[in-house]
Amino acid sequence: MPFLKIDQVSKAFIGGARPVQALQAVSFEVVAGEFVSLLGPSGSGKSTLLRIIGGLLAPDTGAVLLEGTPLIAPHPEIGFVFQTTNLMPWRTILQNVLLPLEIQGKLDENATQTARDLLALVGLTGFEDAYPKQLSGGMRQRVVLARTLIHRPQLLLMDEPFGALDALTRERLNLELLRIQQIQTKTVIMVTHSIPEAVFLADRVLIFGERPGRVVAELAIDLPRPRHLAQMGSAHFGQLTMQVRQHIDELASMVENKTLDY
Ligand SMILES: Nc1ncnc2c1ncn2[C@@H]1O[C@H](COP(=O)(O)OP(=O)(O)O)[C@@H](O)[C@H]1O
Ligand SMILES: [Mg+2]
Repeated sequence: MPFLKIDQVSKAFIGGARPVQALQAVSFEVVAGEFVSLLGPSGSGKSTLLRIIGGLLAPDTGAVLLEGTPLIAPHPEIGFVFQTTNLMPWRTILQNVLLPLEIQGKLDENATQTARDLLALVGLTGFEDAYPKQLSGGMRQRVVLARTLIHRPQLLLMDEPFGALDALTRERLNLELLRIQQIQTKTVIMVTHSIPEAVFLADRVLIFGERPGRVVAELAIDLPRPRHLAQMGSAHFGQLTMQVRQHIDELASMVENKTLDY
């Protein structure tokens, strides 16, 4: 049984001026421990799909199965990291990481130690009592990651989590994300707009096309693990990013041809 199965998921938004088929019959499977990157143009339904997998939105048809069980609501095994960091400015870093447990009434000494351990894991030892505004963007995104990991999710959904960060910070966080994934053997699905980032992180890259949003191509990334930044300079890495780019260019030319037909 696959860890996660996306089975013929379709979703339309019909309330607006023009109905949008955000997703059309999207199907794929993810094995436990796999890192899957989602790439595609804006509006191809990547965020919609992540929200459906996260149980924040219901599909019109089709289903998402986590270890065989249909997901119909937010699930404790699934953690979500968005691009914007929604930390509470009046709470310290430690208090922010503890917030999910506090809401569930599970705040105890153990919880505090777990939060401290997670802050150490994301490289923020010494910042427990700082406030969000005292931290850089990259540090704030680490706090969000620690807060998400406090639930011990088996599946991490990340929607352009590092999109707002500078390139160097982003590279460092990518490496840390892979390290955390190794330690906690988490399954990750991450949306990104960066082809090199998608390839560097993933076991598999899924490429989305728009109108309707669907998976148009899939590429297995066979770079050895653990990954290190020097691999990005290898010929093989170059070939893989080139292949992804070709798929995306094909898509773009299809869209252009369609425009000419009108
Ligand atoms: N809540 C919503 N109401 C109406 N349309 C939406 C809503 N969410 C997304 N859409 C539309 O669905 C399509 C896919 O959006 P989205 O999943 O955000 O794409 P992506 O994340 O790939 O950029 C877009 O055309 C978008 O405008
Ligand atoms: Mg999006």
